Amino acid sequence: MIKKKVLDALNSQLNAELYSAYLYLSMEAYFESIDLSGFANWMRAQAQEELAHAMKFYDYIIQRGERVILPSIEEPPSKWESAHAVFEHVYKHEQKVTGLINSLVDLTASESDHATNNFLQWFVAEQVEEEESASSVLQRVKLTADSPGGLFILDNELGQRVFNPPTKGE
Ligand code: FEO
Repeated sequence: MIKKKVLDALNSQLNAELYSAYLYLSMEAYFESIDLSGFANWMRAQAQEELAHAMKFYDYIIQRGERVILPSIEEPPSKWESAHAVFEHVYKHEQKVTGLINSLVDLTASESDHATNNFLQWFVAEQVEEEESASSVLQRVKLTADSPGGLFILDNELGQRVFNPPTKGE
């Protein structure tokens, strides 16, 4: 059994992860609209990762014998000024998610919910990778500011990204 306060926060994080997937799908559609299919591919993999994050919360809530609640998902933006603007957004968004995970960890500590605290440690580590990966693409997009050729090389590289689903227990 999970205390209501923690359960509500877990359901809310499940919604936030679904929003992340929605946001990255919207960014994928934006990149497709400006013919940067490698950037679009990166976003598709990112959206799939977010869905996997959401399912980890979903499965954990059920494993603990509690009820998953699925309220509506906020509409994400659909327009950006440039690839640079998109990756500024991605980086800020991931920093925001890190803050949400940290608050959740704090809550489980104050409520002495050690099992949920342990479950969340995977996300603590994952957010370090999420921020690093967003920041790394952002830095490289910045370097292409005066070089459209550089943008196409980066597009080609981002087109190689493949989604690897997390294994059970990972
Ligand atoms: Fe689910 Fe990108 O953090």
